Amino acid sequence: VKRIGILTSGGDCPGLNAIIRAVIKCATHKGWEVFGIPYGTQGFINLELGHCTPEDLRLKEHGYDVPGLLGGLDILQFLSGSILGALNKGNPSDPAISQEILQGFQRLNLDALIAIGGDGSLDIIDDLAQKGQWRWVAIPKTIDNDVPFTEISLGFDTAVNTVTRSLYDLTFTAASHDRIMVVQVMGRDAGHLALHSGIAGGADVILIPELTPSLNPSVIDQVCRQIAVLRQGGRRFALVVIAEGVRRPDGQKVASICDFLAQQIQVQSQTLCSSGNPKFCSLQEVDSRAIILGHIQRSGVPTAFDRLLAARFGREAVDLISQHHYNRLVVWENGEVASKPLTEVIPKIKDCHREKKCPDPVDPQGGLVQTAKE
Ligand code: F6P
Repeated sequence: VKRIGILTSGGDCPGLNAIIRAVIKCATHKGWEVFGIPYGTQGFINLELGHCTPEDLRLKEHGYDVPGLLGGLDILQFLSGSILGALNKGNPSDPAISQEILQGFQRLNLDALIAIGGDGSLDIIDDLAQKGQWRWVAIPKTIDNDVPFTEISLGFDTAVNTVTRSLYDLTFTAASHDRIMVVQVMGRDAGHLALHSGIAGGADVILIPELTPSLNPSVIDQVCRQIAVLRQGGRRFALVVIAEGVRRPDGQKVASICDFLAQQIQVQSQTLCSSGNPKFCSLQEVDSRAIILGHIQRSGVPTAFDRLLAARFGREAVDLISQHHYNRLVVWENGEVASKPLTEVIPKIKDCHREKKCPDPVDPQGGLVQTAKE
């Protein structure tokens, strides 16, 4: 092996730069050249545009695009985002575009590629890799934590911490105004981020698509009854966390499901209160607010855990290539770094996409979702 490529694909997340740093360090230590491909596989097409010739793309020891003043390569691990850029759209189903990507890859003369991506990107890149007979290693990243076969993906821990801190911050304003804060958390169709941060942040109610696919009237009623219990016990505010993947009662996915829930909580509280049952008289004039945390969850300084994970994932990817073990996904399993053949991983991802079900990282019968069910 003399020269490898590295790219980040799909939505960004904290820790991508830490992985890029780890890969450059380990690869240059072996005497390899590392080429950074900008904006995911799209970068292979734009090689011809001139602004990213192989020469420009070489990630030098002192950092690519990072001013020397900042300390070059070593400062990278503290920065969120991806210095390579990331793209979460593309048109791999268009054969002309695939062809251009494959030609670009060939022109770079890479011995292997390290691609950092979520479930969607890995599926797309695997398809290209098969067509172009690429030798590649995948590293899982996503704040959604929904890549199968790995217990944790890069970026998830930082996102959990960001949401947990936001819940803490919201607690005091909620308490001052006796309000019900309905907080919408990212995760696409998965509830891992909402569940982990909801528990860590002391949420009173957590709604995730795995357990509550849609907000039917009985769900709203249960939420209000829980608020009534809190109020009877003397606590007048509440934090309700809802994963963005939870749908409206008609099954429709909407951008702001928290708005719907916040409004329905007020309506149903009033209905329960008017029922005359003394249990619900505390629900008079319930005041709710909807908060979408949004893309703040994708940024933030990577936690120590994510930086360590990045260091271990990056090193494992380089080691796999040096041992000529290609077409594998680096994973975290039982507290250790390991790898799985993509021939096992990709069909699982495809199944989940086909069934429109969210892949549970490791054991669909176990884990925190099961605990929440109990
Ligand atoms: O997959 C990561 C994620 O942040 C999801 O949690 C979220 O639904 C989506 O990406 C947002 O994507 P975009 O950056 O295109 O708005």
